[in-house]
Amino acid sequence: MYEQISHSLLNSILDELRPEIKRQNLRHFYTRLGANFYAIHSLFSTLYGDRDDFQAQMVRLVETMAEGYIYRSEESERLDMSREQDHNWFLSQKWVGMALYTNGFAENLADLANKIGYFQELGVNMVHIMPILKCPIGKSDGGYAISNFREIDGRVGDLNDFQKISEQFRKNDILLVLDIVLNHTSDEHEWALKAKAGDPHYQNYYLTFEDRSVPDVFEQGMPEVFPETDPGNFTWNEEMGRWVMTVFHDYQWDLDYRNPDVFIEILAIVLFWANQGVDVLRLDAVAFLWKKMGSTCQNERKAHLILQLLKDCCQVTAPGVLFIAEAIVAPGELAKYFGEDAIVAKECEIAYNATLMALLWDGIATKNTKLLREGIKSLPSKLDRATWLTYVRCHDDIGFGFDDRDISAVGYEPHSHRMFLIDYFSGKYDDTSRGLVFMRNEFTGDARICGSLASLAGLESALESGDQARIDRAISKILLLNSVIMSFGGIPLLYNGDALGLLNDYSYSGDPSKANDSRWVHRSKIDWEKAALRHQRGSVECRIFTAMKRMISIRKEISAFADFNNRELLHSDNEHLLCYLRFNPLRTSDKVFVVANFDDHPQRLELESYSRYGINPRGNYVDLFSGVRPSQYEGCIALQGGQFYWLSEN
Ligand code: GLC
Repeated sequence: MYEQISHSLLNSILDELRPEIKRQNLRHFYTRLGANFYAIHSLFSTLYGDRDDFQAQMVRLVETMAEGYIYRSEESERLDMSREQDHNWFLSQKWVGMALYTNGFAENLADLANKIGYFQELGVNMVHIMPILKCPIGKSDGGYAISNFREIDGRVGDLNDFQKISEQFRKNDILLVLDIVLNHTSDEHEWALKAKAGDPHYQNYYLTFEDRSVPDVFEQGMPEVFPETDPGNFTWNEEMGRWVMTVFHDYQWDLDYRNPDVFIEILAIVLFWANQGVDVLRLDAVAFLWKKMGSTCQNERKAHLILQLLKDCCQVTAPGVLFIAEAIVAPGELAKYFGEDAIVAKECEIAYNATLMALLWDGIATKNTKLLREGIKSLPSKLDRATWLTYVRCHDDIGFGFDDRDISAVGYEPHSHRMFLIDYFSGKYDDTSRGLVFMRNEFTGDARICGSLASLAGLESALESGDQARIDRAISKILLLNSVIMSFGGIPLLYNGDALGLLNDYSYSGDPSKANDSRWVHRSKIDWEKAALRHQRGSVECRIFTAMKRMISIRKEISAFADFNNRELLHSDNEHLLCYLRFNPLRTSDKVFVVANFDDHPQRLELESYSRYGINPRGNYVDLFSGVRPSQYEGCIALQGGQFYWLSEN
């Protein structure tokens, strides 16, 4: 939008830029800056407009974007241009992701290149390398307590190794995803060290207080993220003689985005990594970015403004780079991270579908889909140029954060239902699942669950029992869950060894720096000798891997699985079945009827009851996944316990 005030301000800022920047050929930069400047200026002035140094801060902001642009490689610029032209490129069904630890999946960054063959064998073409930046040993929160945002942890490699892997990924058409931890730093970050030493400039990077008066008011509204190990949201720092806000661990200091210096520093870091060849940046813990006294300090409007500003600025310098919002929040808040009141995403193009993930696990525990369907119905619709990350497991715990109203609507009492889920997944209910209870809040009784996909789905206990039927059941469940994330709409994100049926690894309890964080039970190192069993017919690894590989390759062929708001949830009287229709919006005859049986027992799919959705009860159906025509009997299709179909009429 053309707006006179911001236009004249832009001209005055361009006059003030440092001469070495002015001398550069910045043609594309200026075009994009002109297009985005109205939004950038409005957002920056909403956040920081009341400061005396506003104009100087604006100049720094523009210089930071320009510097980022000057260092952008030709190859990245070429990609920027082609992605700008084909701006829906990431909505295609051809993308399948995987998240992994560099030193768990491989030895280090250099060795990760040797795993490209594995990604290709499975069909994975987007790899989220879990945080690899410098962190203090023993106080790292799995890489999320960063002490240097531009240096790689020496144990996994250096910047040179990173550039090599990013080139190799690009050559092999694999997207590279990297974390930006923008809510907090380690207390050993240079900024924190200077703050501790009494430098007021850096104390203003954090939220510090001389006494408990303000923290006590904050505490009234703020929940605790790690109540067992890190109760409270503030930590006393002896050196500084002040309280500092630490929402996560006591060694993770929250940054204060009321300070534009913080925003500009983080923007420079975002652009630095964009220029190292990263395709997608996963923005960690974005719900927490803005702290408002008296609130939960999550999902605040200004947290959204910060993200919009970051997106607008990144689009000027590195428009080909996408953002993933890691916001594990209530369903109603989730879609806001795409950007509210917008048609196309204006914050993050991609967001974790944490609601679907938790609902899927509910389906596994209850063996019915009542809540799953209700929850999907209440999922806010996404914007046009935005997509979900659909996942079953990740490196974090599972929180059953679905909406209480949905739980009540299907006839459960919310608190006791959640308690049932905790009991179920910690094996207290029937010893199928082998999850570990995480962060029980003694006061509310709330807790979350850790464990690998396979162990939670019952494979660990089944293998122990040696009971073939139980093993089969667990494998079906693993595949059932994956069949939903592959077909639901969004980019499926597999986790680490899930395609190999990796079980819990309890060895973390022997490491004092990990023992009190049971998330490490599902962050195990891959044993590649054992992984070779994926090629041995009949082995558990082979059964899971082969099916996953097939699922991925078939997903990539089904245009109806691309994500264009082209899913219709179908109501069924059979509460064990989850049914939805995926269709190609450009060719609606091109559709796939997805059916998943969450029960352990066989169930019938009565085609007649779906005729109002355009399903032909007398049609001939083929299951695209197995290539088999399911036998039909009087208008019904039979599904075995834990079975799914991707049905197409032909
Ligand atoms: C995110 C990460 C989690 C980490 C937290 C604090 O939620 O996924 O692992 O503990 O942020 O950085």
